[in-house]
Amino acid sequence: MPELRDSFGRRIADLRISLTERCNYRCVYCRYGADADGTEDPLAWPDLRRLARVFSALGIHKFRLTGGEPLLRDGIVDFVAYLASLRGPGGPEEGGLDIALTTNGHLLAPRAAALRAAGLNRITVSLDSLREEGFARITRVRGGLQHVLAGIEAAAAAGLNPVKINVVLMRGHNDHEIEAFAAFARERALTIRFIEFMPLEQADAQKGEHGELWSRDLVVPYQEVVDRIAGFYPLEPLPLRPSETARRFRFADGAPGEIGIIAPVSSPFCNQCSRIRLTADGQLRTCLFSLREWDLKPALANPDDAALIDVIGRAVWLKEERHHIGEPGFVKPARGMVRIGG
Ligand code: 5AD
Ligand code: SF4
Repeated sequence: MPELRDSFGRRIADLRISLTERCNYRCVYCRYGADADGTEDPLAWPDLRRLARVFSALGIHKFRLTGGEPLLRDGIVDFVAYLASLRGPGGPEEGGLDIALTTNGHLLAPRAAALRAAGLNRITVSLDSLREEGFARITRVRGGLQHVLAGIEAAAAAGLNPVKINVVLMRGHNDHEIEAFAAFARERALTIRFIEFMPLEQADAQKGEHGELWSRDLVVPYQEVVDRIAGFYPLEPLPLRPSETARRFRFADGAPGEIGIIAPVSSPFCNQCSRIRLTADGQLRTCLFSLREWDLKPALANPDDAALIDVIGRAVWLKEERHHIGEPGFVKPARGMVRIGG
């Protein structure tokens, strides 16, 4: 089968699969506070298994399961086991299949060991504040922090090391915790990745318009994060890996843990992007900011894989060159992150 390539010569090797649009949190940068969790009709497991098989044959070697909150979907452990069955010889380091999960961590503690045993090899937990108050303000859920911290511990105990933590920084919301997160990375041997805030909030269903939280003023730029941490704990840059989105640092004093900074706004990495996304309702998106989606359901209704391979190949070929955040005329996608899938 052909490899997936776009018209700019980028090889597509990374698929993010959203398993559900539902989420038990309502993070301010992702969803409108009062939006309903919504009815949804996610792809059934047999369709997801078939898609995984086809994408893997097309050269996808990294699958990341996302949502909404993917742990809300029963059957995820079996799906991880299915993905692991596609793995073939060799671990991710030898070019074998990489299976990752992004979760808010709320339901992780009791599932971590089973996910690991099924073949999961990486986990990312989203955590935007280490203080109960800040956590509740950002997620709009009270009392979640303890669950998430327990989930992180359980993932580390299950051997999903190093656990990665995604922190979406927003000025005035959680940027005062940058140093605390760096200390947390050192104490628990975690990889903390600070992500610049992107304009991806869900539409306000009641007003029929987008939330307007995002502005450039709320973005905490890359260099500021590095400088602030380095003022406390000197950092040494780690070598760039191909198609890596994060610039990585270790602590110069040899302490465990790692810092990564993902800067899609201040230094876009679109030119080496290798990813595409599948929404829970079966739409292929070739960019986070795509204004166009490719419905895979008609091709899924056809038992012959040829139709599926055809639409995937055409969609990938037309992958957008780059995003246009902050430029005049930028148009936010109609779906928020909760419905696109991280
Ligand atoms: N900007 C940056 N990151 C975001 N995420 C969700 N919405 C945004 C946004 N607007 C993050 C989540 C999660 C990951 C999948 O994407 O916090 O960690
Ligand atoms: Fe849920 Fe993630 Fe969106 Fe927060 S960012 S509401 S955890 S999908």
